[in-house]
Amino acid sequence: MVTILQRLIDRGRRALGITVLPELDERLSGRERVFRAPPLTRELTDAIKLISPQFDLTPGERSRRYWEADQNGACWGEYEALEGFFASMPRPRRVLEIGPGLGRSLVFFSRKLGWDDIELHAYEGEGETTKYTVLGPRFDDSFCGNIRMLRRVLEFNGIGNVTIFDAHDLDMRQLPGPYDFIWSFYSVGFHWALEHFLDDLLHLMSDAAAAVFTVPNEFEPFPELEGLSFRIVAFKMVWPKDGYLKLLVIEKKTLPDR
Ligand SMILES: C[S@@+](CC[C@H](N)C(=O)[O-])C[C@H]1O[C@@H](n2cnc3c(N)ncnc32)[C@H](O)[C@@H]1O
Repeated sequence: MVTILQRLIDRGRRALGITVLPELDERLSGRERVFRAPPLTRELTDAIKLISPQFDLTPGERSRRYWEADQNGACWGEYEALEGFFASMPRPRRVLEIGPGLGRSLVFFSRKLGWDDIELHAYEGEGETTKYTVLGPRFDDSFCGNIRMLRRVLEFNGIGNVTIFDAHDLDMRQLPGPYDFIWSFYSVGFHWALEHFLDDLLHLMSDAAAAVFTVPNEFEPFPELEGLSFRIVAFKMVWPKDGYLKLLVIEKKTLPDR
């Protein structure tokens, strides 16, 4: 009933030229709001547009609620697929997210996995435009983050203990590892192919570390992966509402020395 009414409202809005927000997977977007979206300012909606170009958000409560539902739904989809893996993962001491965007999964994992007292690191770079590819090459100006807005969202969520490293100041390899867990969602592994980053990442991982990456459905393991312990798991996306994607989980423990 709500859906039919919402569709009618959306049709009316479209006719009036008012922004229509794409439908989300209802189950995922309806789950608990672990991540809280702060009031949307123009600077924040501009930053969101770079991270999620599919959404036309405007400052105001309607867009704020929608973004919050989307960000939580995205996190729930990934979390559901990784729950078994997290249950078996030893408690990490230091973790790193590569390309956190506006921090949704730093907040989500930190809360769900009780990471209050572990070292949370983020690697992000500022950028004014997106140069998204799928499984593309590695290049220096691929970053499109807004570190000020990332900090604001993290602080709004009470996750003020994240150390953010600016990619324009520091090469990935210079990050202060070793990390017990590294993840990168819709970033390295998805837009920019993992094979260009794998050596740097392995250099940053502790001996028993694990890493997780969003990968496109057409992802095929490449030769350097064959020597590693890895698996691929599907997850449900919140947007597009019928979409599925994959996560690549790598564990270093069975690796020969590199
Ligand atoms: C589509 S956004 C994903 C943001 C966030 N992970 C999420 O899922 O909401 C891609 C992110 O990757 C970052 N990025 C771009 N180039 C990168 C690179 N070479 N290494 C690491 N991160 C990069 C961008 O700055 C941006 O924050």
